[in-house]
Order: sequence, then C-alpha cells, then structure tokens
Amino acid sequence: MFAAFLLPATSADASAPLRTHAAARGKFIGAALATNPLANETAYRNIAATEFNQVTAENAMKWDATEPNPNQFNFSGADAIVNFATQNNQQVHGHTLVWHSQTPGWVQGLGATAMRSAMQNHISQVVGRYADNATVVSWDVVNEVFDDNGGMRTSFWYNTLGQSYIADAFRAARAADPDARLCINDYNVEGINAKSTAMYNLVSSLRQQNVPVDCVGFQGHLAIQYGFPNDLQQNLQRFAALGVQVRITELDVRMQMPRDATKDATQATYYRNVVNACLAVTACAGVTIWGFTDKYSWVPDTFQGQGAALIYNENYQQKPSYTAVHDALAGGTTTDTTPPTTPGTPAASNVTSNSAALTWTASTDSGGSGLAGYNVYREQGATDPLLGQSTTNSITLTGLSPETPYQVYVRARDGAGNLSGNSPTAAFTTIAGPGGNGGCTATGTVQNQWNNGYVVQPVTVTNTGTSAKSGWTVTFTLPAGHQITGSWNASLTVSGQTVTARNASHNGNLAPNAGTTFGFQAGRPNGNTQTPSGYTCA
Ligand code: XIL
Repeated sequence: MFAAFLLPATSADASAPLRTHAAARGKFIGAALATNPLANETAYRNIAATEFNQVTAENAMKWDATEPNPNQFNFSGADAIVNFATQNNQQVHGHTLVWHSQTPGWVQGLGATAMRSAMQNHISQVVGRYADNATVVSWDVVNEVFDDNGGMRTSFWYNTLGQSYIADAFRAARAADPDARLCINDYNVEGINAKSTAMYNLVSSLRQQNVPVDCVGFQGHLAIQYGFPNDLQQNLQRFAALGVQVRITELDVRMQMPRDATKDATQATYYRNVVNACLAVTACAGVTIWGFTDKYSWVPDTFQGQGAALIYNENYQQKPSYTAVHDALAGGTTTDTTPPTTPGTPAASNVTSNSAALTWTASTDSGGSGLAGYNVYREQGATDPLLGQSTTNSITLTGLSPETPYQVYVRARDGAGNLSGNSPTAAFTTIAGPGGNGGCTATGTVQNQWNNGYVVQPVTVTNTGTSAKSGWTVTFTLPAGHQITGSWNASLTVSGQTVTARNASHNGNLAPNAGTTFGFQAGRPNGNTQTPSGYTCA
C-alpha cells in the first residue's frame, strides 16, 4: 500500500533549470554576462535569469571599465550586472582586480610607488563599492600571474613591483571587504602540470604567511582537440587540501569549426566531466561558464577558426553540452537509453613486447548524454577482460605479455553508461621481451656436483613485473666444454655457450610476483669445477 506514495520523479523535476539542480547539490552554476545583450535581448536576459544562480561580469568589472582614468570610476556596467543578479537571486563573483590585460595605459606607465598606491586605491574603491552588497560575494584579486611554464609572468605588475604585488593586492582586498571570498585565478591549471604546481606552491606559501587567499579559480578554457585534463578532480582535491575553496571560473570548450555532431558529443563529455569533478570535490563551490550562447563568446575572436564553445547555439537553442551539464547536476539521471554507434575496426601499430597502439573510427552518440569514451577488451571466451579505457578514438595498451597473440575489440560508452556493440576484432602478437630483465628474474642453484658433472636445481623464475606473464624465456651461459645432458620443467636449446630455456606448457603462466622452477643436468671435462652463470629472464 505504501508503494502508492512512491511516485517517480516528475518530468518537471528532470527538466528543471540548471540552477535548481545545482542548488540541490549545494553548488552554483554560473555564466559570464555581457552588458550589451543583457540590456538589449530578451532571450539572453531570460536564459541568464532562469538557468544560473551565479554570474560573473565578462568585462564590466575589469580595470579599463571601472577606472579608465586615474581615480575616475565608472560603475555603470558593473552595477547593471550586480542589479540584474540581485533581481534574480544570483551571487556575483567580481572579476578582476589586478591583471596585466584590459588595464589602462596610465597604470602600466607608473613607477613603483605610484603603481602600488594606484593598485591599492583601485582595490579599495571597487571592492569597497560592493562590500555591503550581499550579491557580490567573491573577487578574483589577481588574475593570470603565471607564465605558461609556471614562472612568474613578467607583466608590468611584476616588472615594476616584483612578486610582492600579489600579497599586497590580497591584503588590500581583505581590508576593503573583510567578508568577501578572495581568489587567485588562472588558465591551463586544470590538470596537474608545472603551472598548476607553481600555483599550488604559491597559494601554500601565501597562506603560510597569512596572506588572505581563500579560493583558487581554474578558468577551464578547454578545447576538444587538446584532450581532457583527466586529473582535474585530483588537482582540485590537492588544492582543497590546502584549505582553500576551489571553483571553475570560465568554462568553455571550443572546437575547430565547423561544428558537427561528433564534436558536439565530445564537447558534451568535457562539460559533463568538469561538472562531475566539481561535484565530487566538497571544496568546489561551483562552475561558471564563460558565457552561455555561441552568439556571444570570446572564442571566435581569440582562437582562429575555433568556436561553438558554449551550451546554447547562436539561436539560443540548447546543445548536447547543455544536456550534459543538466544531467550531471541532476545527479546523472538521464533518460538516455540509446547506445552510441559501434566503433570501427581497431588498427594496431607500434606493437612491442608489452604494449600496442590502437586507433579506430569514432562512434557517435545521439541519445543525449554524449559520447563518454571507449572500452577496449581482449577476446578471450566467456569473459573478455577490459584492457584499457580511452576518451578518444585511440589508445596505447600497456602491461601486455610478451610473445602473446591478442584479439581485441572496442565498445563505445555514453554518459549514461550505455555500451555500443562490439567493433570487429583486431589481431596482433606482442614481440619477445628485451634482453636482460624483462620483468622477471632467474637464479640457478647447484644442487649436486661430482668430478665431471652437476645438477642445477632449482632454477627459480619469478615474475617481477606488474602484469601476468603467459610465457618466459631464461638464458644462461654454459662454460666451454660443458654439455646439457637432461632437463625438466622447461625446454632447453643450446647455441654456442648460450642456453635458452623456455617454459613448459604447464608453467608458462605467472601472475605478478609468482614463480616457478625448472632444472637440468650437465656434463663437464674431468676435473673442471665451473658451473653455469649469467641467468637472465625475459
Ligand atoms: C575575455 C572576454 O571574454 C573578452 O570579451 C575580452 O575581449 C577579453 O577577455 N581570461 C580571463 C577573462 O580571465 O577575463 C577573459 O575574458 C578570457 C581569458
């Protein structure tokens, strides 16, 4: 009877705007807004108001807009954004106080003392204006202080003031609004790399010196042709461990134009992955998309031949990337039951003793959740083990066994977990392991010897690699004049003074760390006391 009360989630729930789902997860979902369409286009205003619970001014709070001339402030654009946000119950992230770009020439030409006071005055006026305004909750205090290798960017700020301008800027912002959350923001810091590690070290050291850095912004200007930073979540987590809030501040995912369904699906995957990474990290406050409609995006003006980076097209129609963000925020619930198309036959290349590269024709996904990636399986009978996963239509398989035939196939998966059919299989055989230690060791022990002969037993073979072996080869050196007279648990061949022992059919399979043994008997000239040496395994 109680079952009568267990109603399924209504479709109104499922189709609720992004902000409803985000709020239910304790996160914000935001957009950068431009003042022009906000004033002039109803469609723009409606989506901005209904879909997002956070906004950032795309340009209106930058220095060139707010203080075009020394100590002459203009807050018309900034106020328009803040008022819109207040009306729509949205929080505003102030972007940005100290940056090398979009800062007037009069600032750039100042000497050190004047530049420091101009910076402090600017921060105190701009942050001060909104200090008692509950809508404005956070600021990008400094933006893009690093160069692409993780050195300090040699901007006019750095060149004139040295690195101390960063701490000074944070202290000035704290003084202007003790309650605002103060962030440092940058691009190409989404994955773990030299630049993000430089950011990590700077934030850690500033906080040790009690400089009020509360938050780190990861811009998230991604491009489908450069791959997804798969360690994004791990990276956010390491910053969280410093005690700061983290946030994605300027998400967009561009593509080489023209747009097509495959690129849209990949883009949707990137959006979903970013949202999921933020959802998975408690210290991640939310995700701001750098705009929302392809009609107004900085991408085509900045990256030649690229575009379509946002979640609505230029006619305000929702794209697959919208659905991906929506479904991720809604907890992964989706009505997508349509699997992606079956991938093409994989082609193998660069086959080594333990690895092989595969590429295949990409799948497409039309079910709405977007193509998430591919699983590569080994055809083996009842259960086919998963050899690897990739977000693109290629992979390098590693950890393969040497001298082993493989038959492999690929299945595509979408964001809802639907798997495509199996691609046709590709066959390849790994080659022999390199000389020396190929992930296994061999040691020989003389068990018994007499005047003109000896028994070596056991020769112990151990898999020291991290993957299972399905065969092994041991070589050793036989002293001159010695002959093998018998062997067991391996088959031996002799060439010159080199003996090659290959596993017998029953002892070739070795799990990591597992071992097996074999033995042999040899004759030697009367009175010779030598025994074999130089045992190696591959
Ligand atoms: C961009 C705006 O989107 C453009 O309209 C403007 O012409 C240039 O700046 N990193 C940032 C943002 O921190 O402020 C930039 O915004 C994009 C890169």
